[in-house]
Amino acid sequence: MSQKRLGGLKLRSEAGSASQFLPQRKSSTARHSAGRLCFAAICVWLSGYVTPSAAETSASSPNGEISIQADVDPLGRPIYKVLFRGTEVIGPSRIGLRFANTPGLAEGMKIESFNRRTADTTWEQPWGERRFVRDHHNELFVRFISDKTPSHKLGVRFRIFDDGLGFRYEVPDAFADGPLSIVDELTEFRLPKGSTAWWIPGRNWRRYEYLYRTTDLTSIDRVHTPFTVRTQSGIHISIHEAALIDYAAMALDQRRPAVFKADLAPRSDGTLVKKEGAFTTPWRTIQISADAVGLLNSDLILNLNEPNALGDVSWVEPGKYIGIWWAMHIRDKTFWQRGGHHGATTAEAMRYIDFAAENGFSGVLVEGWNTGWDASRHEISTKINFTQPTSDFDIEAVAAYARSKGVRLIGHHETFGNLTNYEQQLHAALDFNARYGMRHTKTGYVSDGGSLRKTDSGGITRREWHDGQVAVNHHLMVLKEAAKRKISINPHEPVKDTGLRRTYPNAVTREGARGQEYNAWGTPPNPPEHTAILPFTRMLAGPMDFTPGIFDLMPNRKPPVSEELGRSDEDNRVQTTLAKQLALYVVIYGPIQMAADLPENYDARPGPFQFIKDVPTDWDQSMALAGEVGDFVVFVRKEKGGADWYLGALTDENERALKLPLTFLDDGMNYTAHIYRDGDNAHWDTSPYDIAIEKKAVSSTEMLNLILAPGGGAAIRFEHVEDR
Ligand code: NOJ
Ligand code: CA
Repeated sequence: MSQKRLGGLKLRSEAGSASQFLPQRKSSTARHSAGRLCFAAICVWLSGYVTPSAAETSASSPNGEISIQADVDPLGRPIYKVLFRGTEVIGPSRIGLRFANTPGLAEGMKIESFNRRTADTTWEQPWGERRFVRDHHNELFVRFISDKTPSHKLGVRFRIFDDGLGFRYEVPDAFADGPLSIVDELTEFRLPKGSTAWWIPGRNWRRYEYLYRTTDLTSIDRVHTPFTVRTQSGIHISIHEAALIDYAAMALDQRRPAVFKADLAPRSDGTLVKKEGAFTTPWRTIQISADAVGLLNSDLILNLNEPNALGDVSWVEPGKYIGIWWAMHIRDKTFWQRGGHHGATTAEAMRYIDFAAENGFSGVLVEGWNTGWDASRHEISTKINFTQPTSDFDIEAVAAYARSKGVRLIGHHETFGNLTNYEQQLHAALDFNARYGMRHTKTGYVSDGGSLRKTDSGGITRREWHDGQVAVNHHLMVLKEAAKRKISINPHEPVKDTGLRRTYPNAVTREGARGQEYNAWGTPPNPPEHTAILPFTRMLAGPMDFTPGIFDLMPNRKPPVSEELGRSDEDNRVQTTLAKQLALYVVIYGPIQMAADLPENYDARPGPFQFIKDVPTDWDQSMALAGEVGDFVVFVRKEKGGADWYLGALTDENERALKLPLTFLDDGMNYTAHIYRDGDNAHWDTSPYDIAIEKKAVSSTEMLNLILAPGGGAAIRFEHVEDR
């Protein structure tokens, strides 16, 4: 066993490859038998490939509760399994890859070597749910080798943390004769039968924008990740991936009852992934917890991503924004100029800038500011222009006005799913945004799943998936180009988050689920349970631009602005209480948060609006205190660099009484709790505006009783006060 420190990184190695160890280690403790050379816990497989013992290809989490074992089955198929507190949570499941043009790494394999390592480091986030993140894990690296084609090797690196594990494939280039086309990834997750699952369908036209279904595992066909299940004994498991780079996103296909297999979004040529030379895959992740809340207090996905690659990122600015946005979704205004109801006019933008400046918002998003929106549905994706404002939007004047008020414009690039049209304009478009002082750009990829357009140099247009390798590479390219200009990116209709914000901190947030917009026009709108499921599913991936804060909860009951525009069905409404809209700012994490409603709707309710003005978007610490998937959740967060704490609690369609110890508050400190709770008669359907706003002196020794109304919530600012 060796101990060494590498630039703050504490590593403990327990084994190595033959070439690393053989010359130096002639220890008397060495055992050499049947092709196996062992030094205490260290084994290196030399030849003959005697199956190692289970203990030798196993590894556990630092606290010993999670353990994994890698193996090969009698057909030489690499497999692994996972135990939690002695119970099998992932039964023997296959691992491996197949290629179009060379033998696969799938069967006829043996274990060639393995080694272990321990790491315990703490790293700092430039922004996030918490400032410091501990990365404490044990690692097991296993190298499988093909019987028939010994040049074919498959490395599998497992990292086991107290909150779950990740593993990835590492493929050396030794056997690759030219580019490799992956045609199958065999990774399986054999889940406990009888588990309950919360899921959205994979590979469908609305991408990730589906209502979550709560069913037994057997009702599932293909799902997106994060995919969350609860076993019959109450263990919570969520499967996802980390560091999705130059690869296709993984959905899961239920192949046999309870056996979910990786199902990579294919490229337009029918292969899954193309690779040249040695490569590693994204991490396949399994978060495991004895209760639902444990899933929320996990840093697994971030820990499996590489450190910041952008250097100084002080220009990545968390903050709150408003925008010319909701007005279009409720049909008060239009994205397009024709028809006389254009939202993005110079005067309207200035009105929003005034409101932002008066109320402390750092950004103003303006959608529909550019030419192209007037084109027909079939032409719009090729006509949309990212440097040409409409004739009624004077960008020079608006940007100068914003600057004079200390507010930044937020750029908007709706690509309508035409990757090539956007890529051709990208440099000029980002230069344009930087020139006008924009630090954030919201992008959009509205188009059916599987129909992103990519045109090659010969002019042939192909269709790609929103989460295929081509789209994944597009998104990273946009991030890198944006970073060169100090711009952060917020994609809608994105590829799912896999924690890349650690490596590229300008990946601030994204959509990738049904957001607030569905309450304007979605059929049906988001039911009360939606935001009680999101934290335990979509949000495990990372921040979301949900766009909370709608105060006019029934916008479609207003008379239409014009007959031509009309309104959506009046049942399209926000199915929450007002207090729950406030709770979303704490529950649904995002370093940039929108106050999504119209300025006049905030002016009408200054009491509750105060919470939106106060709540920060960047935190020193965050904790989920209580919750059950799909029922309710309670989060507390401490503001970055300050002493105030914030609480957000929300429930589904059921009323809930919560008793919360305030032990998270700093000991010995006094606070004034500014409580925004459901009024005594509040109900999302019948009395959604009933809100009580109260002040109370509290400290960490007290208990808080909260009643959440059906479809309701609570938001609290615990303001630190020196003295009472
Ligand atoms: C869909 C996005 O989710 C929404 O926020 C945006 O306003 C529209 N596309 C138009 O770009
Ligand atoms: Ca959307």
